Amino acid sequence: MTHRILFVCLGNICRSPTAEGVLRAKSSGLTIDSAGTGRWHVGEPPCPPMIDAAARRGYDISGLRARQITPADFTRFDLIIGMDGENVADIERIRPDGAKTEVRLFTDFAPQTGADHIPDAYYTRDYEGALDLIETCADGLLRALQSPQ
Ligand code: 4NP
Repeated sequence: MTHRILFVCLGNICRSPTAEGVLRAKSSGLTIDSAGTGRWHVGEPPCPPMIDAAARRGYDISGLRARQITPADFTRFDLIIGMDGENVADIERIRPDGAKTEVRLFTDFAPQTGADHIPDAYYTRDYEGALDLIETCADGLLRALQSPQ
């Protein structure tokens, strides 16, 4: 059963920590973490405007700290979820030989939105729009986890 989930974006200070916080709040019994493909922000908390936007919806992501994804994450997690296609390509680039871990786009879980990536609010500054989509994708992911495979 899929119950260890890693969310991945580029910096691990905006989209993936938000996805981690939202899924944590909506679920129980799952192991949830997030990481970045890049290492520029390792050790830093999420960007302050996203901490604030998430807090207004009841998600506390202020205690999260950025880290970089490693090949070991393919054994620590059953499912690795990228926020955009570049994330997925970068994740696949470090897949260890023989690792079967599934790698998916977060928006795959919310086809009704028509979105093919989570826009990077660090650049767009549309924190509310990113949160809306992350919440919808988290709901779809939870439905997928609950339905028989
Ligand atoms: P994220 O956003 O991938 O959603 O955490 C980013 C934040 C910072 C940078 C890139 C993406 N950066 O290169 O500084």
